[in-house]
Amino acid sequence: EHSRQIAQILSEFRLTTEQLLEVKKRMRIEIENGLSRSTQDSATVKMLPTFVQSTPDGSENGDFLALDLGGTNFRVLLVKIRSGKRRTVEMHNKIYAIPLEVMQGTGEELFDHIVQCISDFLDYMGMKNTRLPLGFTFSFPCRQTSLDAGILVTWTKGFKATDCEGEDVVGLLRDAIKRREEFDLDVVAVVNDTVGTMMTCAYEEPTCEIGLIAGTGSNACYMEEMRNIEMIEGDEGRMCVNMEWGAFGDNGCLDDIRTEYDRAVDDFSLNPGKQRYEKMCSGMYLGEIVRNILIDMTKRGFLFRGQISETLKTRGIFETKFLSQIESDRLALLQVRSILQHLGLDSTCDDSIIVKEVCGAVSHRAAQICGAGMAAVVDKIRENRGLDHLNITVGVDGTLYKLHPHFSGIMHQTVNELAPKCNVNFLLSEDGSGKGAALITAVGCRLRQELN
Ligand code: BG6
Ligand code: GLC
Repeated sequence: EHSRQIAQILSEFRLTTEQLLEVKKRMRIEIENGLSRSTQDSATVKMLPTFVQSTPDGSENGDFLALDLGGTNFRVLLVKIRSGKRRTVEMHNKIYAIPLEVMQGTGEELFDHIVQCISDFLDYMGMKNTRLPLGFTFSFPCRQTSLDAGILVTWTKGFKATDCEGEDVVGLLRDAIKRREEFDLDVVAVVNDTVGTMMTCAYEEPTCEIGLIAGTGSNACYMEEMRNIEMIEGDEGRMCVNMEWGAFGDNGCLDDIRTEYDRAVDDFSLNPGKQRYEKMCSGMYLGEIVRNILIDMTKRGFLFRGQISETLKTRGIFETKFLSQIESDRLALLQVRSILQHLGLDSTCDDSIIVKEVCGAVSHRAAQICGAGMAAVVDKIRENRGLDHLNITVGVDGTLYKLHPHFSGIMHQTVNELAPKCNVNFLLSEDGSGKGAALITAVGCRLRQELN
């Protein structure tokens, strides 16, 4: 009776290998659409050129500021890179809060707040009078025309500040620095977090040519052949492409695997209809999918004695860290109940078993479809290089990947199964994307000097 109906609901989240191969295949189609001139205007996976044309080689040198905006934490960093035989990177950073009113207020308020935080950081480091080059990790889709210009295509995740979409975010930052009339900075590069992560990892591991974020949002970048990037002149060498794969499915191509719960999460989000793949596999949304399933199960009398509490009606209660705790194998069910209690949900032992199953089904599918996307990327790179077999490293970051007890394992396994001709090594970024942004800034400074 109940347990059969519960199993029925959860079975919608179980994908067969055929379905996952289909996801991989469709991702490949969208990749091609994003790269070709004739289809890219309508492409959902935008494949944005980043103007990063190589990974680090150890010759990067200097002191840099970095901003890191768009993930769980907003950071300002000072990164000191030393080249030579004993290369070193020394980092100092401070985390600042971005209040919800600022994330969703006016663009001016947002950028004034950012500059206010930089000002505080420079005071803290005693560096107000040095004009340092700055790398801006800005984890949103940007159409770049050079390393230091990026037009925000659309906000994603929890941001929705006015008057920023369609604007060059480097310009917005420079304007805010001018408004403050207190210090000067030289903005050299705008960098997506996937790209920063790839560069951070590539500094240690030269085979790293892919960046992956499984965090608040979901996205990937990789080194694509210049000849395949039709938007950009030139056929020699490679350029890193920020895929913006979170938007995969926005043309309806994933509708057959989306459930009514995915549709509910999308409908009540800040950006309905957009980032549909991201809404199935990233930290900001998994808890919401779970919550929608729990509401439905409660309505149908399978859970919480049929009583929908105010808490359960509250958006965003199941953060990544709670899902991760609930799914931890070391946790006894009693502890699951105490987490639910902490969230304001009174559960019986049976309830806690069901909640854990629901979390498991949702995160399992998330890891699998993320793996299917990655399988498409590694096979594309393998084919680019005309290889029967490819060895490659993926630099990864993000709270979901780091905190969740099963996500990474299932994702790795899926990539192996769906891309058997690739040997994919995953390297966790220990230093965030700020370090990578500083490395890119170092190269940007050098190229600029060479031009002058
Ligand atoms: C880190 C970055 O690498 O990972 C962040 O420094 C980035 O800027 C983040 O966005 C992704 O993780 P999360 O889970 O904080 O969104
Ligand atoms: C969202 C952003 C993307 C970012 C990702 C991970 O998908 O659009 O730019 O890389 O989140 O933070």
